[in-house]
Amino acid sequence: MTQSEKLFERARRHVPGGVHSNTRFQAPRPTYFARAEGAHLWDVDGTRYLDCTMGNGSVMLGHARAEVDEAVAGAVRAGLTTGVETEAAVLAAERLAAIIPGFGQVRFANTGTEALMHALAIARHHTGRERVAKPEGGYHGWFDPLWVSTWPSADQLGPAERPAAPPSSAGLSATAAGTVVLPFNDVEAGERLLREHADELAAVVVEPVLIDIGYIPATPEYLRRLREVTAELGIVLIFDELLTGFRIAPGGARETYGITPDLTTYGKALANGYPIAAVEGRPELLAATDPSAGGPVGWVGTYNGHGSAVAATAATLPLLADGTAQQYLDKLGGLLRDGFAELSARHGIPAVLAGAGGHFQPYFLPRAATGYRSAMATDARRYAILHETARAHGILLPAKPLLHAALSTAHTEADIERIVAAADVAFTAMKASA
Ligand SMILES: Cc1ncc(COP(=O)(O)O)c(C=O)c1O
Repeated sequence: MTQSEKLFERARRHVPGGVHSNTRFQAPRPTYFARAEGAHLWDVDGTRYLDCTMGNGSVMLGHARAEVDEAVAGAVRAGLTTGVETEAAVLAAERLAAIIPGFGQVRFANTGTEALMHALAIARHHTGRERVAKPEGGYHGWFDPLWVSTWPSADQLGPAERPAAPPSSAGLSATAAGTVVLPFNDVEAGERLLREHADELAAVVVEPVLIDIGYIPATPEYLRRLREVTAELGIVLIFDELLTGFRIAPGGARETYGITPDLTTYGKALANGYPIAAVEGRPELLAATDPSAGGPVGWVGTYNGHGSAVAATAATLPLLADGTAQQYLDKLGGLLRDGFAELSARHGIPAVLAGAGGHFQPYFLPRAATGYRSAMATDARRYAILHETARAHGILLPAKPLLHAALSTAHTEADIERIVAAADVAFTAMKASA
């Protein structure tokens, strides 16, 4: 019995499925890890993996990045856990202000889900409206009303121009049924739905690149029109930059697209994997949460501005600010893309590697996906062969075909060659099993 098998037996006695986030469960059992450094993870049986999951994309600077961990160690030495304000929290906000174009004001929370809950409360208060719109297939955390139409199955989709809003989990409240699901990248159909529901919609939440289903950028026209129409209809536009943030440009998608939303949520790469998230936005919107001015929208949380998380944030942001990290990741991504294109042509297997900023997704499709419906046509069997073969070569990729893989600045060109070499073996196996 391996150590992972033993831990699974112990864990499942007390923990459903033996995991604390369902995406970590992979049949027949999850792997348990002992340590991480740079681009590598070691499991409890001593196997070393080249990590291409990187904390669901959050560990952009590599595991155990010295500058970040030293700052966290400093907070620990100072004895700071939580429940008080600190200079590090001030510094973290200042450093975020310095990196985000058109920065307004910010408040910290702990997770992306929480940040989006706060953002929706601000939007509801501001508009006096209740409902929320989001793109088909987008993931914005595990709460209602946003945990709707995330990885829907084909029979749940509904009409392309008026997608259904299937809940992604049991146990959501009735508010989930009120979510308006927008067809991603369809300017006219999206605008029609927004106009139809204008009087009820508090907010539109959009990930400018759908990364939780791989890597599907919004067209500039789609985002531009979304900005114009939401402004005209008085709907709060929220960019969810949990994954685009700091990776696709230092200032995230709003820098890439040159579009400023009303509110933005950040997390993940913000603190290189330490638990913190943020809501940034127009000062007149954030003012609703200001306790010194009697703002009516509550903002509380035991762990908000936690000592280790704000120290990690203040240490991480300067390392992301000048664009060097993003350029390096794009260079690695370009090599990977070229490698996959060559394999696809040589093996005669349709495949497109999409990505930027170290996020990447191999789609087994003849051309790049433009929305959830085209992405879900990816050949899941081929992806499973790639995933299994990579794992046999000591490379960890996400287990599902519609998630997202990630590199970090600790990955090297030699690592990319290793991934392409393993993919070559996988493509050969795909042909053999066709
Ligand atoms: C785009 C996006 N939004 C929101 C979330 C939710 O963040 P968290 O897992 O920190 O609650 C995630 C997490 O995967 C995400 O990728």
